[in-house]
Amino acid sequence: MMGSNHTNHSKSTTNQHAAAAAKNAGLPSLEALKVLTDALEAKDSYTRAHCKSVAHVAVLVARHLGWQGEDLDCLRYAALLHDVGKIGIPDSILQKPAPLLPAEYEIIQRHAQIGSDLINRITSLSCIAPIILHHHERFDGYGYPHGLRGEEIPLASRILAVVDALDAMTSPRPYRAPLSLADAMHELHRGAGSQFDPAVVSLLSQVLDETVLDGAVPAAAVERRAA
Ligand SMILES: [Fe+2]
Repeated sequence: MMGSNHTNHSKSTTNQHAAAAAKNAGLPSLEALKVLTDALEAKDSYTRAHCKSVAHVAVLVARHLGWQGEDLDCLRYAALLHDVGKIGIPDSILQKPAPLLPAEYEIIQRHAQIGSDLINRITSLSCIAPIILHHHERFDGYGYPHGLRGEEIPLASRILAVVDALDAMTSPRPYRAPLSLADAMHELHRGAGSQFDPAVVSLLSQVLDETVLDGAVPAAAVERRAA
């Protein structure tokens, strides 16, 4: 399903980057991860639970692709920290209990670059910086920060984009009720080929069908397993 040459090339490029970083610096330090996720939680308690759920489902998807070892670790850490750049976004915007105005949306978009720059300064975590940088790119090229398109976007970032959207839609927000898992998957299929990589959406659909989530949305299932 994900076996196109371009897809393999993107994965291979990301893998080479990850492998080189891991070889040079060792695997990401759990202490560094904990400090960063704690800092993020202090800023926004919603974000940490969200990131944990995104990491869980992203790893399920990547395992379906045969990812393991450092590739899988890089994706897991990138998912846990993908919104770490929100540390640099004002609370008045981050916690606004209403949809964002266009100017506020422009400011919040900076979190992808801020997060990537921050993580890049930690040598042992640098393999995840490009994944974080591109997690809001769109498959049709209209995303941010660089407007990459299709398989120019690292595969790990394409997986993260789909799983991130699923979790956001199925989580309650101050200004809207959560969607059901079925409705959220419907929205992802509607965005397949424009916002999202259609192959990743299909793969996620397959993974969720085959994974016992007890009918719960991913975030609730992750919380229940962690309890
Ligand atoms: Fe984000």
